[in-house]
Amino acid sequence: NLPAKVKIVEVGPRDGLQNEKESVSAAVKVELVDRLSRAGFLNIEAASFVSPKWVPQMATSTEVMAQITRRPGTIYSALTPNMQGFEAALAAGAGEVVIFGSASEAFSQKNINCSIAESIARFEPVAKAAKANGLRLRASVSCAFGCPYQGAVPEDAVADVVASMRDLGCDEIDIADTIGVATARKTQSVMLRAAGAFRIDGISGHFHDTYGQALANIYASLEVGVSIFHSSVSGLGGCPYAKGATGNVATEDVLYLMQGLGIETGINLELVVDAGQFISQHLGRKGASRAGNALAAR
Ligand code: HMG
Ligand code: MG
Repeated sequence: NLPAKVKIVEVGPRDGLQNEKESVSAAVKVELVDRLSRAGFLNIEAASFVSPKWVPQMATSTEVMAQITRRPGTIYSALTPNMQGFEAALAAGAGEVVIFGSASEAFSQKNINCSIAESIARFEPVAKAAKANGLRLRASVSCAFGCPYQGAVPEDAVADVVASMRDLGCDEIDIADTIGVATARKTQSVMLRAAGAFRIDGISGHFHDTYGQALANIYASLEVGVSIFHSSVSGLGGCPYAKGATGNVATEDVLYLMQGLGIETGINLELVVDAGQFISQHLGRKGASRAGNALAAR
């Protein structure tokens, strides 16, 4: 028995566009977010307040957050690696801040320039400030299924980071397959380990589709009770610190799956397909969503 309804968090404007080689203007990002808002997402990851030297594509996050048309009921999230990022996210009116750590020591160093333990210490004031300001707090756990630098990642390491994030008071914790290496049974095993440390209804699956396994992994996650998933319109994305990683699973594909399963999402697939066409045209390439391309051609 699968969940009757799921929450889809649209991460294309952040996870997708952060990895584009061509810089995308703030105006195009705003148009993309507005189209996604109209499609009915309750949560859109729209910004990232990180060092512009590390991720130049996210340097316009303040402008984007200022210019989007906010849909009542939709939460606009922003990545915040430290207090400097938090202050910027707060000023920009983010409804949710995302601290992002890793289950892999090697990836933690490459991505945020500190050890896992140091990252948790750095997140502590961010978590406190989020609570004090009434913002939602989410945590992302990268490399939960494998790491581009160290290879295998023990499930114990995932469980430890999930427990640390829980202790910081997170409302939601993302189990991320940064490089898309997971397969279905492994996914269930890791999700169940995470669920040993945090309530299952607060756990989300963040799957990159590098090896074409993301939809299977989502279905496998549904089977063990996960009901929150991240996806990117048109399959945009990657991670600048995970070489060779491709985009997140495409939102259109996930919505098509959920429709077929009779699982409610509250999202208008047609409007997502349109948003995918819009951003693909802008980037000058065919979108990576199979369902999106099929539906657009109909
Ligand atoms: P650092 O160099 O150790 O930081 O970087 P620092 O505190 O020593 O500061 C150095 C400089 O950065 C200073 O500027 C700071 O002001 C500036 P300077 O004096 O040299 O001119 N700085 C900032 N600027 C703007 N916003 C900030 C900020 N903080 C410091 N918040 C840091 C540490 C974390 C900042 C850096 O490593 C960084 O920005 N990393 C970002 C990495 C990133 O964004 N990766 C992609 C997102 S994660 C992801 O995609 C994975 C996910 O999708 C899940 C999955 O799939 O796995 C979430
Ligand atoms: Mg990601």
